[in-house]
Amino acid sequence: MTAPTAPLGRLRLGVNIDHVATVRNARGSAYPDPVRAAKLAEAAGADGITAHLREDRRHISDADIEALMAALTLPLNFEMAATAEMQAIALRHRPHAVCIVPEKREERTTEGGLEVAREENRLAHFIAPLRDAGCRVSIFIAADPRQIEAAARIGAAVIELHTGAYCDLHAEGQIDQRDAELARLRDMAAFAHSLGLEVHAGHGLTYDTVQPVAAFPEVMELNIGHFLIGEAIFRGLDPAIREMRRLMDAARA
Ligand code: PXP
Repeated sequence: MTAPTAPLGRLRLGVNIDHVATVRNARGSAYPDPVRAAKLAEAAGADGITAHLREDRRHISDADIEALMAALTLPLNFEMAATAEMQAIALRHRPHAVCIVPEKREERTTEGGLEVAREENRLAHFIAPLRDAGCRVSIFIAADPRQIEAAARIGAAVIELHTGAYCDLHAEGQIDQRDAELARLRDMAAFAHSLGLEVHAGHGLTYDTVQPVAAFPEVMELNIGHFLIGEAIFRGLDPAIREMRRLMDAARA
């Protein structure tokens, strides 16, 4: 695999709209509409839209994916578990990117990174048709060199580093451990880049935690959802996204 050129300037922002669907589904109504949120996100400076179709359909639905594919001009980053059902859905829609995430029914959110190293053979076969269909395949993993090397070996184009542990440690005020996790993320971003992988990051990021990650030169994209949708309650979705964009750009400069 050839190494990409030097790290580039502008960091992309992928806005995850899952929790617009969570609010809608709480009442079984037709609103708020995730597609409307995606359009607003685009106007506010998002570079992509991320949506996770979970096995239990707790937020985004199959119809949402159809509607997003039909309505979006921005690239869709389709998050999914490595199951035959999800692979068939991805192959039907052929989104710009497919991000493979671990999924457990009982979890509240995606709690850890994907175990690539132990499942290398299965995952290599799983992602091959997605790649052949023209999707950029991304693997959501912890900042662990074993997982990063395995992601490179199976032929993923992208890894997304799980920032959840860093954000949790920040929220708990565990500053030393937070800084250690941040250092691990920084080192692993550089390591993945050296293997020719494009590096993304996300999970749990807020205005308070985004800037140190945005400053890693190898990181090309951040995917952020839950905090932005929550913040939109207070300031509106457009200003909430614009502020995140401003913080990311400031950290990059
Ligand atoms: N990236 C991945 C791979 C995710 O699974 C999620 C959550 O769906 C996010 C980013 C966004 O995380 P959050 O909603 O906490 O910002």
